[in-house]
Amino acid sequence: MKKDLLVVGPMHAATLKVLDETYATHKLWLAPDRDAFLASIADRIDAAATSGRAGMDEATLAKLPKLRMISHFGVGVDSIDVDAVKRRGVLLANTPDVLTDDVADIAMALLLATVRRIAAGDRYVREGKWVAKGAMPLTDSVQGKTFGIVGLGRIGRAIAKRAEAFNMKIAYQGPRRKTDVPWPYFEDPVALARAADFLAVACPGGEETRAAVSRAVLEALGPEGVVVNISRGSVIDEPAMVELLKDGKLGGAGLDVFDKEPQVPEALLAMDNVVLQPHVGSATHPTRRAMGQLVIDNLALYFAGKPLKTPY
Ligand code: 8YV
Repeated sequence: MKKDLLVVGPMHAATLKVLDETYATHKLWLAPDRDAFLASIADRIDAAATSGRAGMDEATLAKLPKLRMISHFGVGVDSIDVDAVKRRGVLLANTPDVLTDDVADIAMALLLATVRRIAAGDRYVREGKWVAKGAMPLTDSVQGKTFGIVGLGRIGRAIAKRAEAFNMKIAYQGPRRKTDVPWPYFEDPVALARAADFLAVACPGGEETRAAVSRAVLEALGPEGVVVNISRGSVIDEPAMVELLKDGKLGGAGLDVFDKEPQVPEALLAMDNVVLQPHVGSATHPTRRAMGQLVIDNLALYFAGKPLKTPY
């Protein structure tokens, strides 16, 4: 008989297909009455699969007293109440490493697109302005500039590696100095922003880092500075960022993530010094397949009574 599995929210289709084939899946997001649905399956559910949007809050956990394991599709666990999960002794697995390079690629693409006005240039050609007005205004360059990285974890390091190939200098900020990198460390994000030309936000989201890239950090980055965010919208003080961009006190922004996705502050839509992406850092076929495989593998290991492959 197939084991029961709660699936909290919609998932990568190929991953969900395997879960459907392997388990008796119970799809919470399709239930018309969430509480009644949870009550009807609670005594059979010891494992759940979830992802970024759906997450797992304490109220849902409280309705699943037999839950012992959550397999999360995504590296960031900010939509999961991790404290409550740990308190209840529930195991948690996420999907690190497999998405690092694709996310770092998007960070670099956003930096180049913003600094070199790639999206604006594309519009310039399409709208016939090249013909009508002649050459586009000159832009800044990334060559020789300092890329400040907020959060030198796996993704931050992968961004640094790429930036070095673009002849950039690296500096970083985070809770701890790293002993295995040669780059200048700043304890204070404002000091990092002051020393950097551009800033990459690559630290985890969640309450601990909410608005860590504050108005003061963005002001220190300044009118020539560009901020790139591939982490979580919550890490930047978004209203302050919009205001500073409007007032010319921040030079530009390349953003893959927003505080209230899929809502994007209206004012950003009209700005040529801003490049916007719909949270696509990990959204490639191979990476999403690899993330899905980790979700599947971690569940299989849990049900086999073995240690998880990528415990959080
Ligand atoms: C996905 C992500 O968009 O892994 C993360 O933390 O932000 C992205 O890879 C998300 O996890 C999909 O659920």
